[in-house]
Amino acid sequence: MIEKFYPSSLYNFLRLIHSNPVNKRILDCGAGGPDPKLAFFYENGFETYGIDISEDQIRETEDFCKENNMKLNVIKGDMRNIPFESKYFGYVYSYLSMVHLSKNGTAQAINEIHRVLMKGGLCYLNFLSKDDNAFDINEETKSGEIISKHGNEEYVHSYFDDDEPEEFFHNFEILYKEKRHILKGKYFNTGRTCILDYIVKK
Ligand SMILES: C[S@@+](CC[C@H](N)C(=O)[O-])C[C@H]1O[C@@H](n2cnc3c(N)ncnc32)[C@H](O)[C@@H]1O
Repeated sequence: MIEKFYPSSLYNFLRLIHSNPVNKRILDCGAGGPDPKLAFFYENGFETYGIDISEDQIRETEDFCKENNMKLNVIKGDMRNIPFESKYFGYVYSYLSMVHLSKNGTAQAINEIHRVLMKGGLCYLNFLSKDDNAFDINEETKSGEIISKHGNEEYVHSYFDDDEPEEFFHNFEILYKEKRHILKGKYFNTGRTCILDYIVKK
């Protein structure tokens, strides 16, 4: 077991997975970076797969895998067009990654997740709440989509009203929802203070 900090919402997802067993194949959408959440599921006996749009982020995950002797299987891919066959996974999630899509992109990604999930499978997603400290309400940000520039690259962050993500879940059953106010902890330091969590079933 490696020593690592995991967000409490992953334990909650695992708890629901245990009460809803299908297969042990799990996909992380936006899985890259130095702190892959797939490690948690690997250590809990899952066959793990991940996709990420950024080669740099994937390289960081590969370094993590080497250091910790884990095979997480993270490949390049866009969650709006998931490179896996339909109904392949029992479980799919995205941890603070879908937040980088526009609201149209979010709808596309959730339709793709629906396609690759088997019937009865579960999905955990989180969304940035408009109550997050980083969200400034003004005329320009009314849609909830904020575009910021770093050099030549543009980054989107989508923020949601309470219950707004539910429009994406018309062909899922919502099993669990929570509005998390983060007062202290890892994601407080990165500016994330309010997150909307959903666990849904196909
Ligand atoms: C804030 S990081 C979170 C990474 C990881 N989930 C974690 O918790 O440490 C967001 C990740 O989403 C990835 N990403 C952004 N848009 C994506 C897309 N359309 N498809 C797949 N990955 C994407 C980024 O490259 C980045 O690695």
